[in-house]
Amino acid sequence: MTAEPRDVPFTFGLWTVGWPARDPFGDATRPALDPVESVHRLAELGASGVTFHDDDLVPSGSGDADRSRHVERFKAALEETGLVVPMATTNLFTHPVFKEGALTANDRDVRRYALRKVMRNMDLAAELGARTYVLWGGREGAEVDSAKDLRAALDRYREGIDTLAQYSEDRGYGLRFALEPKPNEPRGDIFLPTIGHALGFIATLEHADLVGLNPEVGHEQMAGLNFTHGIAQALWQGKLFHIDLNGQHGPKYDQDLVFGHGDLLSAFATVDLLEHGGPDGGPAYDGPRHFDYKPLRTEDLDGVWTSAAANMRTYLLLRERARAFRADPEVAEALAAARVPELARPTLADGESPADLLADRSAFEEFDADAAGRRPGGQVRLAQLAVEHLLGAR
Ligand code: GCO
Ligand code: MN
Ligand code: MN
Repeated sequence: MTAEPRDVPFTFGLWTVGWPARDPFGDATRPALDPVESVHRLAELGASGVTFHDDDLVPSGSGDADRSRHVERFKAALEETGLVVPMATTNLFTHPVFKEGALTANDRDVRRYALRKVMRNMDLAAELGARTYVLWGGREGAEVDSAKDLRAALDRYREGIDTLAQYSEDRGYGLRFALEPKPNEPRGDIFLPTIGHALGFIATLEHADLVGLNPEVGHEQMAGLNFTHGIAQALWQGKLFHIDLNGQHGPKYDQDLVFGHGDLLSAFATVDLLEHGGPDGGPAYDGPRHFDYKPLRTEDLDGVWTSAAANMRTYLLLRERARAFRADPEVAEALAAARVPELARPTLADGESPADLLADRSAFEEFDADAAGRRPGGQVRLAQLAVEHLLGAR
């Protein structure tokens, strides 16, 4: 493989490599990582940027002096390594104050505090040059249906996001907001559980143009959905503002595995879409390839860096495999045999009206539906060609 990681804008959340592997059943298995060390290690491995929650950088409860010390050290590390901060986000889930929600908490004081917490970190995000602000509503949800007025919750969610977008506009920050859907965990049911729910919600916003999505592989797969289809629709609607790549084995708890260490065929399709799904077979997405994963709890610090490198290497290998797939003349032939290119042709002719369609006897009266039902599909051949490219057999 000739490609170097720096060909592609790979980014990591500080909370990913920095996860000390505390889970609901067990204590941390690794020491906390200094964000400055993470910046240096990720730069050495070939990443181009880092992202953070406010509390990843400045521990919750820090005073002003500590806050500026943390920020200055981080800035110095960015300067030394050349890493950028394309995205930032807010921790609206760890502190007990958010136990019943943040932007959609029943308690209005909590909602106002949550907005202020986001605004404060937006100031820092803008200062560090971030273009995207992610909102993952982990605590926006419920376990008890009667304990939440869903209509009011969605009203407040809309009010919250529009207020933040307005704040960015007022301050001239130029941020775009990316909502991250997830079906459940930590709440029993989270609002805006899938890409589709979130797209529907965004259309109702006053600042709809500033708001898009940050879909995560594992989150759609937890809901049994096809991640590649989900991001394809987000792209089609101009709403893929950011992406969280990782791995997941179907509907179970959020595994946050290394990218490709879950459903590998789906990861291949995702990379193929990102790299070749645009007009004329070019890239469909030019933003950061952001990894939101958790190094397995079994790993020590060496294993953390092995897993960080694995995300990028797997992406590059899949990109190389997708290129080979797209360049294979037999694939082109199989695509044509399965009539894949034909779908780009509009169903009606230029200027054809419903009445014209009605008048076209070849479309219905003289159409041999039985014969058309016997036309070969050619889909298995395509599936096998993808598998063979993925396995390096072609
Ligand atoms: C999760 C989420 C988070 C968010 C992060 C950014 O399931 O825990 O994926 O990791 O991506 O909070 O907002
Ligand atoms: Mn996740
Ligand atoms: Mn995520």
